[in-house]
Amino acid sequence: MKVSSFATALAGGAAMLSTAVQAHPGMMNSSVLEALKEADFNEPRELLGDLLGLHRSELGAVGLLIRAILVEGFDAQTNEYYDYVPPLNSEACVRDTCCVWYYIAEEMTEQFRGLDGQCTDAARGAIRLGYHDAAGWSKFTGDFGGADGSIVLAPEEILRRANNGLEEIVQQYTFWYDRWSYFGVGMADLIQMGANVATVVCPLGPRIRSFVGRHDSSIPAPDGLLPSPFDPAEKLINLFRAKTIQPLGLAALLGAHSTSRQRFVNPARAGAPQDSTPGIWDVLYYAQTLAARAAPDIFRLPSDLVLSEHPRLFPAFKAFAGPNGQAPWDFEYAREYVRLSLLGVFNINNLTDCSRVLPARTFSL
Ligand code: HEM
Repeated sequence: MKVSSFATALAGGAAMLSTAVQAHPGMMNSSVLEALKEADFNEPRELLGDLLGLHRSELGAVGLLIRAILVEGFDAQTNEYYDYVPPLNSEACVRDTCCVWYYIAEEMTEQFRGLDGQCTDAARGAIRLGYHDAAGWSKFTGDFGGADGSIVLAPEEILRRANNGLEEIVQQYTFWYDRWSYFGVGMADLIQMGANVATVVCPLGPRIRSFVGRHDSSIPAPDGLLPSPFDPAEKLINLFRAKTIQPLGLAALLGAHSTSRQRFVNPARAGAPQDSTPGIWDVLYYAQTLAARAAPDIFRLPSDLVLSEHPRLFPAFKAFAGPNGQAPWDFEYAREYVRLSLLGVFNINNLTDCSRVLPARTFSL
């Protein structure tokens, strides 16, 4: 990514794409842009799935949009909303691929937003589930694994140690699938839409473009592609590189630990969060991970500590932790989550953009 050039790219892209692309709000000051440019290290930004074999002229509006997000610096956040949503069982709703997703997103929101307005344990679980389903893929597994719903559809996966703690949210998705598959909804899409609904329901969370149309699979994803919190930094970085996620993207994605609680890394402190505000999508996680000493109410994952200190991730941690870090983090997270949510997906050009079904962002409590 060339951070310095994304504003130009955004301006040019708006003309290129028929789909409205939201330019990044001018909230990043120049010092943060400079810091992010440093954090980027000119790492390659790669295309994914079927986009690798298709010429730009062969792409539809969604293919072009996703291509632009993946490699051209477009903002993956959106402010598109439905003007009018047809009633669920109407013919108009059947004709509109996104319509049913509006009702699903509404039901998910009830589970993900607590009475205090903050995001719930189910929301944390849904974000982690989206990551664990998609991350069962690498460049060496081709079209096997990835965001295909197998974390729920292949019972073997939940028995893997790396998926400890996801049992309840897997049950919730089984329930949602039983309820909504009648409308033609797939598990892989449910899981990725759920992660994006959960993220935007967390106060300050970005509203990430959400696509549907992935293929489901009940074949267990290849084992060994999820990281251990005790792995050394180089091993973790290489694991994510093999998923086309470079260190800046990894640093941004790790910020999901802003809303997380651990149970199995240190069972004696089960439930301890990774920053002091686990119900809010804020940048406190970055500051508290970098701090010389841990705040007493939090537990820092060993992997977060070694990665935050690594020269390839430290500049991003520092930039996100700063007073103007929220907007660049949201931008980077949204873009990298779109990438993550498409790992192992080989019909990207045929997906449908249903971002308009997402609930609104909450900018304050
Ligand atoms: C080096 C990469 C990563 C490692 C080693 C890692 C490890 C962990 C561990 C050990 C836990 C606690 C599990 C438990 O004890 O209950 C956790 C929780 C969590 N992780 Fe990660 N993680 C990584 C990356 C990510 C990414 C990329 C995302 C999302 C984009 C993510 C989202 C979450 C969430 C939301 C939770 C909280 C789950 C809950 O509270 O139920 N993690 N992670």
